[in-house]
This record gives sequence, structure tokens and C-alpha cells, in this order.
Amino acid sequence: MAARLLVTGGAGYIGSHTLVALLEAGHTPVALDNFSNSHPAALESVQRITGRPVEYVEGDIRDRTALRKLLQREQDRGTPISGVIHFAALKAVGESVSEPLKYYENNVAGTLTLLEEMERAGVREIVFSSSATVYGHPDRLPLTEDHPIRPINPYGQTKAMVETMLRDLCASRSDFKAICLRYFNPIGAHPSGLIGEDPHGIPNNLMPYITQVAAGKLPCLNVFGNDYPTTDGTGIRDYIHVTDLAEGHVKAIDYAAGLSHGEYRAINLGTGHGTSVLQMIEAVEQACGRKIPYQIEPRRAGDMAAAWADPTQAHTLLGWRTTRTLEDMCADSWKWQSLHPDGYKSMASR
Ligand code: NAD
Ligand code: WQD
Repeated sequence: MAARLLVTGGAGYIGSHTLVALLEAGHTPVALDNFSNSHPAALESVQRITGRPVEYVEGDIRDRTALRKLLQREQDRGTPISGVIHFAALKAVGESVSEPLKYYENNVAGTLTLLEEMERAGVREIVFSSSATVYGHPDRLPLTEDHPIRPINPYGQTKAMVETMLRDLCASRSDFKAICLRYFNPIGAHPSGLIGEDPHGIPNNLMPYITQVAAGKLPCLNVFGNDYPTTDGTGIRDYIHVTDLAEGHVKAIDYAAGLSHGEYRAINLGTGHGTSVLQMIEAVEQACGRKIPYQIEPRRAGDMAAAWADPTQAHTLLGWRTTRTLEDMCADSWKWQSLHPDGYKSMASR
């Protein structure tokens, strides 16, 4: 059934891909974004891909008045919001260590305001962007949802805190439904090359760093450690195509709508397979037909050797599984990077 959804952080990397998936599935999302880490051009691209108008409001989840106005406006129009997909957050791990209060204020206090206004407006469904980072250093692999939660940085703490808030809220309200999706490592871009990841400054994450090296924007990839207890000594992660991830949100919304009662669930979204840094370099080289210069550097503080998901719950509960390969992820990341070397900035000025 078509749902009227509020998508916070809808202009961001995962939010924009999810808007495409929601529109293609017949839902009618309205995005809310303060553009602190995104560009309105992303929403124009979503419109080009889907051929459907993209409704959005420029605003902040911490702005109670703006939230109230938006939820009220939809009620008055006869299109009440039935659920929220909540992407809006700050996500730079290093910055969260140096500016923890900024992260608690935006991610935790912001979500609290959102939940209070949802409750006031009678909105009882939320799909929350959580992260595999809540597990911290794994005791065992693959990671199942019942693995202990012990994040190792303030960013991860904010995700764990919001999960706790949602669990407690569901325990107190028999009709409230909350699905926390714990993403592993999203990479890739929409195959059109019209939307993708647009990091500000030097990327922190592996894939945007590699594609910027491939494009000649950065001279060389630093590989953080080759002495981990893994097959080739480099870190292993569960990389997932952002379009598969986006489709997981549509499944989560359908799942929540089909429940006749309230529920709290935390569900991994990953492929169940690990890829090392060296394997990723090779895969991107294949995709772009260029050598990627790299050098081995010491381990990065806080990094773990390996992490990958057990995605069984997502199969069982949501009927979701990934369909895109590592080759697809690399080809689509490279297409986005090569078509838009300066991200949305260059698209907007055209
Ligand atoms: P992103 O930065 O591209 O998107 C987040 C969006 O939220 C941005 O458009 C930003 O402008 C907006 N935003 C931030 N604070 C806001 C506020 N107070 N009010 C309104 N809008 C606000 O990040 P992303 O990679 O698309 O991540 C989306 C979500 O998924 C985040 O919650 C992130 O923590 C989570 N997540 C991301 C990853 C990843 O590797 N990308 C992994 C796990 C979880
Ligand atoms: C992957 C691998 C690095 C960059 C981070 C956040 C996590 C989540 C996703 C939001 C590791 C290696 C990386 C580089 C390298 N975000 N690497 N050179 O660390 O798994 O997760 O993003 O929730 O919270 O911590 O992803 O892409 O940074 O690193 O060698 O320049 O690549 O050491 O093994 P990570 P990543």
C-alpha cells in the first residue's frame, strides 16, 4: 500500500537513493533536510531518475516548530504522514571524537525532538538508520543482531542511544513500531550516475578515497595496516550496494505496515560477505581500467580487523536480500566519480 512518509536526511547519500526506491515502489515521500552535508541538486537528480516530483522541506530535526508545522500541514491537507525514515545525522567518526557534544546534540537530541513531535502528531512508525558500528570490536563473525552492543566512539554511541530510546518507547506504547536497520558498509551509486556519495574534503571512507585516487584527484591510497589476522593482512568489511540498502528500507516500511501490533526490531543490512582492502583495490582497478597507486601505512586508530553481517533476519523478516555484486558496486561508484568529479557542486552550476 502506498504510504506518505517523512524522510529526514533525504538529500544525503543513502537518503537520496532511498527516495528513488520509495518513489519507484509507489510511495509518496516528503524529504526534510538542513543540507548540512548535502545539496538540493541531489533531489533534482532523484526527480530526473524517477520522473516524479520530489517534495522536500529545508529544515532541521532539532527545530520543533518546523517539525510540528510540517506534520500539521500534511494532516490539514488530508495526507497525514504514516511513518518516518530517519536518516538525518552527522556521521564522521573522527569529528565525533573531537566534537562529541555536537554529535549528541544533533543525533540524539534531534531524534528525541523528532520522536516527541511524531508522538504528538500520532505518527507511530519509524525506520531508523543505525549502523554496524554499534557492535564495536566483534566477539565472533558473522555479526548477528544479538551480538553485544559496545560502540567505541561517540558517533557509535549516538546510534546505540537512539536504538535504546526506540526500544524503550516501543515497550511503553503497544502500537509503536520501530525498525533499526544496522547498515554495514554502503558503497556504489545509482547506475544512472546521477546520484552518489559526495564527501566534503578528503574522504574518510575507503571507496570514495579509492575512486578519487583513480580519478587523479588524490595521489595515492593509504592502506591502513597489512598486519591484521586476515587472508592478506588488510581490513575486511561487508560492502553493500547503496541501491540494495535503499530497497531494504522499502521492505522495512512494508514489513512495519503489515504488522497488526507494535514492535521493536534491530536488523542487519549487509551481504554476509567480506572484502579486504587489497581485494577492493583490485576490483576498482577492474572497473576503471587504471592502476590505483597505494602505500601501506600503520593501522588506523579504532579500526577492527574484520566485520561482516549475518543477514538472515533481513531475509526472514523483510524478505530482503542483496542482488548487486562487488563489480556492480565498483562500476557504479566509478561512474558517479568520473561523471561528477566535483560532486553536486559541479552539477548545480550547470
Ligand atoms: P549523509 O551525510 O549523506 O546524509 C545525512 C543527511 O542528513 C544529510 O543530507 C544532512 O544534510 C542531513 N542532516 C544532518 N543533520 C540534520 C539535521 N539536524 N536536520 C536535518 N537534516 C540533517 O549520510 P549518509 O551516508 O546518507 O547516512 C545516512 C544515515 O545512515 C545516517 O544516519 C548515518 O549515520 C547512517 N549510516 C551511514 C553509513 C555510511 O557508511 N554512509 C553507515 C551506517 C549508518
Ligand atoms: C574500510 C576499510 C580501513 C580508508 C566507517 C565508520 C562506520 C560506518 C562506515 C557509519 C578499513 C580501510 C579506509 C583509507 C584504508 N559509518 N581504509 N584506507 O571504518 O568500516 O566504517 O564507515 O555508520 O561507523 O567507522 O569504513 O570505509 O572507513 O574503512 O585502508 O583511506 O578500509 O582501515 O579496513 P569503516 P571505511
